Amino acid sequence: MKLAVIYHSETGNTKKAAEFVQAGMAKVEGVEAKAFPIDAVDEAFVAEAKGIIFGAPTYYAVISWQMLKFMQTAKLPFADKLAAAFSTANFEQGGSEIVLENLNDVLLAKGMLVFSGGTSHGMPMTHLGANAFVRDTTIEARQPVLEALGEKFAKKAMELF
Ligand SMILES: Cc1cc2nc3c(=O)[nH]c(=O)nc-3n(C[C@H](O)[C@H](O)[C@H](O)COP(=O)(O)O)c2cc1C
Repeated sequence: MKLAVIYHSETGNTKKAAEFVQAGMAKVEGVEAKAFPIDAVDEAFVAEAKGIIFGAPTYYAVISWQMLKFMQTAKLPFADKLAAAFSTANFEQGGSEIVLENLNDVLLAKGMLVFSGGTSHGMPMTHLGANAFVRDTTIEARQPVLEALGEKFAKKAMELF
């Protein structure tokens, strides 16, 4: 089963986070996981994918304008696929959870089946998705939660589709 990660990244933090999410997906047998920046999406792969996890950096406590523009303008068949969100920020209190909410809202509006794993799939918890902070800690320090989101998501996709 094909699963995709689509992310916006200017300075590499969200790209690194995307790679951990992708690695988590790939732990599940039968999954082919690929990650794409918003300016190089493999449209054929995404069209075939049963699920997509979206990631964005936090800009002034909301989703980056580049990711929002992509979400609002991309002409891709997102509807009815499983979806989830992750975000990066400098600081734990810097608004990354608002970015998860921004993404989850757009995914719902696009008719995607929004998933997080929340508190129901064990530790580490992924309440609204996964987030990582680069100044308070490092992206690597959040590898467990980023991978967990990818793995829980892939297991659910295999179960559903
Ligand atoms: C214009 C701009 C605004 C930002 N605003 C915030 C913010 O409100 N809170 C925060 O914690 N980090 C903020 N950051 C930091 C980024 O969210 C953080 O470094 C992120 O990981 C960058 O992702 P990237 O390396 O994938 O581009 C901001 C960065 C930029 C460029």
